[in-house]
Amino acid sequence: MAEAYRPKLHMTPDQGWMNDPNGLVFFNGHYHQFYQYYPHDTVWGPMHWGHKISQDLINWQELPPALYPDESGMCFSGSAIVDWNNTSGLFENGKPGLLAFYTSFIQPEVILADGRKVEDPIQQQSLAYSQDGMIWKKYQGGQPIIPARGNPGFRDPKVIWHPASQAWVMVVSCGQHIEFYRSTNLLDWQLVSEFGYRHGAHSKGPWECPDLFELQVEGSEETRWVLVVGIGEGAHCGGAGTQYFIGDFDGKTFTNHNHPEDILWLDFGRDYYATQSFSDIPSEDGRRIVSTWMSNHQYSLELPTQAFRSSMAMPRELFLLESSAGLRVGQRFVRELGTMLKLESKPVSALSASEVKSSVVKSSVMKCEFTAALSQDQTLSLALFEDHDIEFQFKHLEAGLEIRSLRKGQFGHARIDEHYPHDYSVVLPVAAEFSVSVLVDNGSVELLINGGEFSFTNLAFARNTDAMYAISVDNGELPIQQSAVKILVQGEQA
Ligand code: FRU
Repeated sequence: MAEAYRPKLHMTPDQGWMNDPNGLVFFNGHYHQFYQYYPHDTVWGPMHWGHKISQDLINWQELPPALYPDESGMCFSGSAIVDWNNTSGLFENGKPGLLAFYTSFIQPEVILADGRKVEDPIQQQSLAYSQDGMIWKKYQGGQPIIPARGNPGFRDPKVIWHPASQAWVMVVSCGQHIEFYRSTNLLDWQLVSEFGYRHGAHSKGPWECPDLFELQVEGSEETRWVLVVGIGEGAHCGGAGTQYFIGDFDGKTFTNHNHPEDILWLDFGRDYYATQSFSDIPSEDGRRIVSTWMSNHQYSLELPTQAFRSSMAMPRELFLLESSAGLRVGQRFVRELGTMLKLESKPVSALSASEVKSSVVKSSVMKCEFTAALSQDQTLSLALFEDHDIEFQFKHLEAGLEIRSLRKGQFGHARIDEHYPHDYSVVLPVAAEFSVSVLVDNGSVELLINGGEFSFTNLAFARNTDAMYAISVDNGELPIQQSAVKILVQGEQA
């Protein structure tokens, strides 16, 4: 019997707990995805770096954990790069190898080697290295390359190469701001600037999981720098959420091009956190591909999966688009997803208030696309799964498009956190005519509006997990073009 809520196309640990994606890097023909991992239980515990590899970003092979907690601390989130020229001097015969930068985290109450008892958590940045990407060694036994800063939240280093200033740059979150460090040898790091305090969304907890990259404006040669930052609580619809800033980065300082009070969310769902981009994707490919933890710290510990807990969102390609409000980050599923799906049904057009267009697909994976043109105050409902446990309602208001997300369902004896079924809505600057692409896999729903201008990523635990959809409208006629319904290609994955 299939395991409850084990998705087919989304990455999950074979067993145990997973949170943030870590150390995303392409090396020797493989995407490596590491992740915050506790193999011995389905709730958070002493953090390891789990490890999977893939050639297509969809089918992942699990390998033994790359990093284990020890007396130098737990292995919190971080990033990886290819050290092509053996700049670090850690590899043999000048060959390239991988470097992973992570936070060693020592919990309060731990007794250190010198007999001292830890009062506040110690968070410092450490380095691990691997010649082949498979076997990892902690540099200097996990001793920090950047020691603790005396701040309770100092973590999640992301390292990038900054070509214009010919230096390595590390972005680290530190309390309510981001710190930027520079290095030429990848071992010694110098603090060069800070960004944050009055900018964007903040909450009680520290900023987390930053990323920094340059993105091309679609249809132009222009580029901008994007700084991604997570807040673990107090986001737009409760709990954790991922924001970003668009601006310039000269190798030392990030300059925000928007007003400090502007908050740009990467996703409008409840389950999209700790987004990180892959390093070292070959330049002939050139995509900026991200992976994201598909859960929310508000309720992630109590959800109805059994052997494992948490999956990653479908990897996405990011792009910059010119919207009515200015430049924004858009997202589309990686094209590799297409090769896993086949066409299921013919397009439909026009819908009147008395009918429901629906289809039960005999697959737990479905991708359904349509374009609709709503009249003022008309509501389009997209219900998903046999019992309609997940529903999105789209309403055209003067202020824009209101999208309401409803999560229902009974889960038998499975435990589920009381915060999970919470309904919410947002109003987005979207015209009456809009397109929707929805990807359903067992346990989740990902919605892209207008080709990825806006995205909604939500966990979705339904009673019947066959990926059925039903589209209806509450009044009048609705012009609708359904372009495709696709389901999983039967085979290896099914
Ligand atoms: C974000 C986070 C990171 C930290 C990791 C610990 O989800 O809190 O800041 O490194 O999880 O697992």
